[in-house]
Amino acid sequence: MISTDFTPVPTVTAEEFRRVMSSVCTPVSVVTAFDDRRPHGTTVSAFASLSLAPPMVLVALDLGSDLLQIIRRTRRFGLNVLSADQSGLAMTFARKGADKFADVRWSADGDLPRLDGAAGWLACEVEQLIPGGDHVVAMAAVVAADHHERSPLTYHQRLFGTHAALPDGQ
Ligand SMILES: Cc1cc2nc3c(=O)[nH]c(=O)nc-3n(C[C@H](O)[C@H](O)[C@H](O)COP(=O)(O)O)c2cc1C
Repeated sequence: MISTDFTPVPTVTAEEFRRVMSSVCTPVSVVTAFDDRRPHGTTVSAFASLSLAPPMVLVALDLGSDLLQIIRRTRRFGLNVLSADQSGLAMTFARKGADKFADVRWSADGDLPRLDGAAGWLACEVEQLIPGGDHVVAMAAVVAADHHERSPLTYHQRLFGTHAALPDGQ
């Protein structure tokens, strides 16, 4: 009989894990929410599509993220999928602080802050917040979506870039 209560002993160092993960190319997005009337945003790469019917996404947020504390209360967030010319915004929203929107062009879309010029927009309602190590996974229903045909901002080997199709497109 196979025992199911096996707990693996971690033998992978943080450095080894980081090295592999830095070679995984990701999209770059800014998750936004209102903290009362103040817009707040955080750069994330840990964002993925979760379900098609119903449409759902997941985002992993560090336990120390101020945005996480906001969406624990508001239970909603906007997902701004950045375009290739928005690496400056990615850095702005990777800082700590309550003033990240100071020099940023944005508008209120319903009850969520929305960045100008992003390639994609998803308005999301949190269904579950699930602990995952030193992060929390937010699983959320997508209640509005919008898209502009723009090249994506990507992150790979700690550098911003964009996607290029192979010559034969295969
Ligand atoms: C390219 C990039 C990707 C990032 N991805 C994530 C992520 O997926 N989850 C996360 O919690 N933080 C991520 N961060 C770090 C946060 O943006 C950063 O810790 C930020 O200061 C948190 O802000 P807050 O405390 O206002 O939420 C990323 C940063 C960069 C530059």
